[in-house]
Amino acid sequence: MSDSRAAARALLGWYVDAGVDEPMGDIAVDRFASVRPPPQIPTVAAAAKPVATVAQQAEPQARPTRPARAAPVDGSLGAARSAAFSAKTLEELRGILQAFDGCPLKVTATNTVFADGVPGAPVMVVGEAPGADEDRAGRPFVGLSGQLLDRMLATIGLDRQRNVYISNVLPWRPPGNRNPTDNEMAMCLPFIQRHIELAAPRVLVLVGGTSVKTLLDRQEGITRLRGRWFDWQGPSAAAAVPALATYHPAYLLRSPGQKASAWKDLLALKRWLVEAGINTAASDT
Ligand code: URA
Repeated sequence: MSDSRAAARALLGWYVDAGVDEPMGDIAVDRFASVRPPPQIPTVAAAAKPVATVAQQAEPQARPTRPARAAPVDGSLGAARSAAFSAKTLEELRGILQAFDGCPLKVTATNTVFADGVPGAPVMVVGEAPGADEDRAGRPFVGLSGQLLDRMLATIGLDRQRNVYISNVLPWRPPGNRNPTDNEMAMCLPFIQRHIELAAPRVLVLVGGTSVKTLLDRQEGITRLRGRWFDWQGPSAAAAVPALATYHPAYLLRSPGQKASAWKDLLALKRWLVEAGINTAASDT
């Protein structure tokens, strides 16, 4: 390889490592130019208003493992909580999230990926974070892993047109699909917690280690957690929601040998739905 080709290759590699992995258009967009000033840090008095109850209840739910260690100690985490828990409907939450500028991931993302499927559906699937396809489309699970997810759900009569609602722990794609920082995770946690509360599914399906560990505050790896049922308790929701942990479809694409376990999990979910009297059969009409 010539020196100039090697240099060009090295430069491209450097871009990819930095998260610049998609040519989106001919004209460069300066995303930093549109960043609004950081949210106001709520005063002590403001924090003691009605949202304080929710914020206080939210405290034990914050992940004491990864995010809590690096959780921002200024008011920005409090601002995220107050913003998220001020939403009374899913549409309000969508608007609040789109206007929220406290998380650095938003700066590099193309779209805020809120949800797909049927709001209020009995089954809610929560994944990890948008990838490149989802970031471009503004909808979760539309790429290859989303297609596998759809096929898996279809085997037990579930689909996002009828009876499934889908979101992610993170609404913004980490650049280059890098791992989110503890701070970014902590900042997004109240939004997905409130999202689940407002969507009020009968059952949660948490796909992948990040989703399971973040929402259930567990330390174990996904191999130990998958196939198990947990109670997800929202900070302000009265009743716990049963939550099934399972493998992420992206992992199944890389490790097809694990599909047998994922199939067991799907059958367990189907049994749960039948016992709960939730009919997943498509109507003839
Ligand atoms: N992986 C996820 O966890 N979520 C998506 O939306 C896409 C891929």
